[in-house]
Amino acid sequence: MKLTSEEKEILEGKQGRGMQKAMELQVALGEAFEAQKLIEVSRTHVALSGQEGDTYWCELLLEGGASCKVPCTTNPAWDIKVLTQHYGVSQKELDLVKRTYDVYTRIGAIMSLSCTPELQQNVPAFGEVVAFSESSCTPYVNSVLGARSNRESSVSALAAAVTGKTPLYGLMFDENRRGTMIIEVEEAPKDPYDWGLLGYNAGRIIEAEVPVFVFRKMDRRPSPESLLYFGAELNTSGAVPMYHIEGVTPEASTKEMALRGNTPCREHYISLQDIREEEERISERGGKINLVLLGCPHYTLDQVMEIDTFMKGRSAAVPFWVLVSEATLSLAKRNGAFERLQHLGVYLVAETCIDEPCFKSFEGGLGLTDSPKCAYYRERRGQPFVVRRLSECVEAAVTGEVK
Ligand code: F3S
Repeated sequence: MKLTSEEKEILEGKQGRGMQKAMELQVALGEAFEAQKLIEVSRTHVALSGQEGDTYWCELLLEGGASCKVPCTTNPAWDIKVLTQHYGVSQKELDLVKRTYDVYTRIGAIMSLSCTPELQQNVPAFGEVVAFSESSCTPYVNSVLGARSNRESSVSALAAAVTGKTPLYGLMFDENRRGTMIIEVEEAPKDPYDWGLLGYNAGRIIEAEVPVFVFRKMDRRPSPESLLYFGAELNTSGAVPMYHIEGVTPEASTKEMALRGNTPCREHYISLQDIREEEERISERGGKINLVLLGCPHYTLDQVMEIDTFMKGRSAAVPFWVLVSEATLSLAKRNGAFERLQHLGVYLVAETCIDEPCFKSFEGGLGLTDSPKCAYYRERRGQPFVVRRLSECVEAAVTGEVK
């Protein structure tokens, strides 16, 4: 790679051991992807997870004198104010999350603790060069906002926050953003749930292509929540940091514009029946549930208000947690939804993720969610989940059983 004299100095350790480590990582990454140089980023988002490896990396940089040049927003770690009052966690787990909060704060991160920064706190403009980790963020940032980010890890995104740079490769280039395969879909889904199922189904067959989705029928443009859930699931069952939707996403007013001269290497068709079959495939059968867990990715205020509508003043028969950003939480407190729902046994909580130790109390029972991503991660931890749309999740929460 061709480095500037300042970058060479950083690599030699002249700006401290922390910067040196971050630069070493970026040069190694750049060389692996045959990047010619580094370029500046204007925004970063780090998917800190409260796991030992991520926290160690941040400590290594901080102890070496590094701080964020481009302050990063952060993913949730896990809430230690609310959930620990309800569910037991070990001292070791508690110590790790406190260490995580402390070190990211000291390195200069914006402790936003939400996995939807691209909707609220850290919203890139079209064409902006950024380094975003978090599997639900990267497809949204590239495909919906038209900003440019490679599929970063929490480690490489923090290195970008510290150096202010990222290697020039992959989705930074116009030619790599062009569509390479066509996915024709019978009909556009109508809500975030079905968009999520479509994403999960398509993610399994895309491999390393940039898909162009063409809908034979679309009555309603997808909402930001729908596109968020779509990208999250594309990037859970597959690895899809960029997609186009003809007539919807900004680099795809037409199919031809999305392809930009490329001949698609593959074509694939997804029917409404395929989407229903995907739901069957990813979901556990029904039965008595011990938890309803929503907000993976974090729910917006509109989604919270939908829960309020569906509850119709009835109480939940099982623990019902909804993960949201701090901004959504404060709006829900302001408009009364937080208190109203809490009264019904529906709890909104910020700063946390479904993949955190506090939810292990429910392992051994059956959970319910509207998010295939949530089901995927929780099942790896030992709790099977039924996956249903929001209205059905609410009905099951009221009876304690899902059909
Ligand atoms: Fe967010 Fe955690 Fe799901 S970061 S997208 S709640 S796995």
